[in-house]
Amino acid sequence: TISYWNGRYLPLDEVHVSPLDRGFLFADGLYEVTAAYNGRLFEPEAHIARLQRGLSELRIDCTLSAGDWLAIMERLATESGITGDLTVYLQVTRGAAANRGHAFPAGVTPSVFGMASPLKRPPAAWRDQGVAAITIPDIRWGRCDLKTVALLGSVLAQQAATDAGVVDALQLRDGLVTEGAATNVFVVKDGAIATPLNDNRILQGITRTVILRLAAEAGLQLVERDIPAAELDSADEIWIASTTKEITPVTSLNGKPVGSGAPGMVWRRLFALFAERLG
Ligand code: PDD
Repeated sequence: TISYWNGRYLPLDEVHVSPLDRGFLFADGLYEVTAAYNGRLFEPEAHIARLQRGLSELRIDCTLSAGDWLAIMERLATESGITGDLTVYLQVTRGAAANRGHAFPAGVTPSVFGMASPLKRPPAAWRDQGVAAITIPDIRWGRCDLKTVALLGSVLAQQAATDAGVVDALQLRDGLVTEGAATNVFVVKDGAIATPLNDNRILQGITRTVILRLAAEAGLQLVERDIPAAELDSADEIWIASTTKEITPVTSLNGKPVGSGAPGMVWRRLFALFAERLG
């Protein structure tokens, strides 16, 4: 399939990355995953804005404009040869310097990569029955708001879930819920929805932002605040949300049912609104 590499479109297996690339040596880079349903990118502007914010925070000097990014995403989506729904992956690293050294090298050009992949949407069973999750300690660094390719924290969290035979691992830091392995978390109690604050402890998920907007439009009560881990045990509903997991109800946590043990009424209402936007 076609990919993008530093200004050119070429087959994926023709992309060759230098071992001196700072993405390889230092995980010095950022990425984005955007879905496209029926050939239409979902919220591409929000993904581009998050990428550009991250690049500026990390002082990676990438000259591509929002319009350039959109054009790359559109071309990867349309020329991928993928027939169904897909994701467009974008990655920018600080580039390949002549020597290995931690501080920013002078005169490097960022490496920009993009590819499209088939999107496997969440199975119907996840919506009918919900999924199981566990809780684990959040061992990640202090800038989880940056979507860096340094994903070992997420890798270990997802593997802990996989080892436990569940779909996600909800991470706890200082007694508070942060996020799933690669998802944002929502908790519902007595009809009120809560989600962790948008700060350095979590990624500001695009799906999360869409949920905030849909809840406001529907007149549902939703607050962003710290969520003590104990609230997971007394919650009526727990949801995980991301580009690839959409909004998925968690109906079993650490082997115990969440609320009634079935997807909840608030989720049902919100997911219906969300699903309308994907088509
Ligand atoms: N991950 N939190 C983390 C740590 C994530 O990695 C992700 C997404 C999210 C949800 O963000 P969004 O709604 O913008 O997808 C939250 C992507 C999908 C990934 O790593 O594949």
